[in-house]
Amino acid sequence: MPLTRRHFQKLLGSVITIPLIKSCRASEEKPQEDTHIITNKNNIVLSTWNNQRANLTAMGVLDTDNSDLLTAIEKGINTVEADPNDMSVGYGGRPDRDGNVTLDACIMDKNGEAGSVTYLQNYMHPISVARKVLESTPHVILSGSGAAKFASEQGYESVDLLTDKSKAEYAEWLKKAEYSPKVNIERHDTIGMIARNGIGEMSGGCSTSGLAYKMAGRVGDSPIIGAGLYVDGEYGCATATGLGELVLENCTTFLIVELLRHGYDVQSACEEAIKRIIKKNNTKDIQVGVIAMDIKGNTGAYSIQKGFNYVKSEGKNTTLNEANSYYR
Ligand code: GLY
Repeated sequence: MPLTRRHFQKLLGSVITIPLIKSCRASEEKPQEDTHIITNKNNIVLSTWNNQRANLTAMGVLDTDNSDLLTAIEKGINTVEADPNDMSVGYGGRPDRDGNVTLDACIMDKNGEAGSVTYLQNYMHPISVARKVLESTPHVILSGSGAAKFASEQGYESVDLLTDKSKAEYAEWLKKAEYSPKVNIERHDTIGMIARNGIGEMSGGCSTSGLAYKMAGRVGDSPIIGAGLYVDGEYGCATATGLGELVLENCTTFLIVELLRHGYDVQSACEEAIKRIIKKNNTKDIQVGVIAMDIKGNTGAYSIQKGFNYVKSEGKNTTLNEANSYYR
């Protein structure tokens, strides 16, 4: 029988984990009194960019079984990964400088357990493989050839992720081979999705082909817990899109959720996290956008540049919204 995450943790728990957790918890702040009072009973799904189909797919899963947050996230994101016209995610994603499409994705459940794949090649659905890492391995991240071997062992089919369009664009790019990461001020990027059900349970996922024409070997923020995605079942969840290097250096989604823990409202937490990035970096031509939700279903969004939009579904309503931005 394969060693799963839960077996592995059980094994460690008896030796190391329990004393460590006890000593950490002693110094933690108590949650605020009203944190767990849930008045909003709606299912809510938020996705970065105009990914309405992904949202509706996820909401359809939750309408059938609102406890199945991971399937909602996975199936929602699968729609974007399979879309050849989205050139920042999955099939049809722009390749790196060597012409290879390399994918990053992660998923987190309501308990904060995570699965992730980085630098995965030739598999259309990295979010599904990430979910398998969460559910069927003792690890959090599998990378590169190891992730591909695992995907194959799990029965996923190997495919060529380049399309005629992405090949033609790459051939054009090669004529100058100039690399200037002008990131997605108006264009689509990574899909980050966060979902909450009517009893305040939350999960999230993130999937991308990363920066176009990046160096071979580059991994961005999207598969890294606390950078591209973070879920804390007690307080909230957040996901990010845009130039991954800045999100990585600032632990942006972890910061947002940690600010919720310290009493920020969800919009202020998003704004503070983006302002931290701006304070430390020259962000004149750079985009980073975040979306977040707290346990009660309050939502927030903010970006460095204008033009970052996101889809919110709640109950029967799905709307495309433009986030407020630092530069107007
Ligand atoms: N945010 C996607 C990336 O930088 O790879």
